[in-house]
Amino acid sequence: MGLAIIGTGRFLPPDRATNQDLTRVMDTTAEWIEQRTGIQARHFASDGVGASDLGAEAAKEALRKARIAPEQVDYLLVATMTPDHHFPGPAAMVGAKVGMPGVPSLDVRQQCAAWIYQLQLAHALVHTGQASTLLLVGCEAHAGFMPWQDWDYLYGRGGSAPSPEAWERASRHRGLAILFGDGAGAVVVKRTDDDRGLLAVDLHSDGRHVDLLFVPGGFTHRPYWTKEMLDEEKHIPRMMGKELFRHAVAKLPESVRTVCAKAGVSIDQVDLFVAHQANDRINGAVRTALRVPAEKVPSNIAQIGNTSAGTIPILLDELTESGRLKPGMLVCFLALGAGLHWGSALFRT
Ligand code: COA
Repeated sequence: MGLAIIGTGRFLPPDRATNQDLTRVMDTTAEWIEQRTGIQARHFASDGVGASDLGAEAAKEALRKARIAPEQVDYLLVATMTPDHHFPGPAAMVGAKVGMPGVPSLDVRQQCAAWIYQLQLAHALVHTGQASTLLLVGCEAHAGFMPWQDWDYLYGRGGSAPSPEAWERASRHRGLAILFGDGAGAVVVKRTDDDRGLLAVDLHSDGRHVDLLFVPGGFTHRPYWTKEMLDEEKHIPRMMGKELFRHAVAKLPESVRTVCAKAGVSIDQVDLFVAHQANDRINGAVRTALRVPAEKVPSNIAQIGNTSAGTIPILLDELTESGRLKPGMLVCFLALGAGLHWGSALFRT
């Protein structure tokens, strides 16, 4: 029994901010951002648009390409770190927007590492006979935690220049604000009678490092939200970028070596490394550590930034569309995200 990818889709909200646009609202330069991250631009959802909206659009495209009607899906796995509401998570909302009421849906909360977990869950559900056609969605609307206020001014559409206080506040969070962009990807997978699909997984979580990237606000406070908390910027994630960078560069190559050993394949035999895109320099360092040529590690960070749980499904759709992802390929997925959660998976397309 196997698992095949039968359709992929992506959706990026129309508003796009270049690095130069970001220099209108905080102390940074387009060159700094590009040199340190590889990012040139990112998309942002507009006010009132949530991760579930973006996810539903990507899902509809994936279903259309898979030639599958929504009612043929028997399980939905939706990942996000920016849910429309504190609860419930967006999985059921994506299901409703796509037109699959009653289909079981699960929220996956593993942030940038979600795809590896989604794939493992899909494999397990198929191999235990619980599902045969699944829709996997990764969707993010990070715009809500960006540290500036006047979006029109950011896009150069009028508005007013930030006050010195607003400028200072946004600049305090610039390491975070330059990285993330909004978008969604979706993948339809189906049970097959051959041996395609997941070959091996190496997965880890370590909550001792939760402080490396987290939103300080939450249900430990009574009430869980106050005006003071907003003043203290507890809605904006705290990120220790350098530490995260170090963890990613150390843990991801180790995980790839482990997953290849588990599957009995050499790193050379892998056709494509489809990696989470947090910072192009992270993937460059991982590539060097594993001695993998650049052409085997596709990148899409330049135009869309880090789309967290959306990243790998979006990249999969791009690779399918461009013909780079072909049947019979050995693909290694790898990702690390807030939690910490990290790991890799080997998949035969
Ligand atoms: N624009 C201009 N200068 C900036 C800046 C920005 N956006 N952000 C930081 N700087 C400055 C700092 O103030 C510092 O200046 P100083 O040396 O005068 O003190 C200098 O640049 C270096 O800052 P540092 O934070 O050490 O930069 P860095 O090379 O570590 O890059 C990140 C910062 C965030 C880009 C990088 O650490 C990173 O990408 N980490 C991984 C984050 C990640 O993976 N997050 C998501 C997990 S899924």
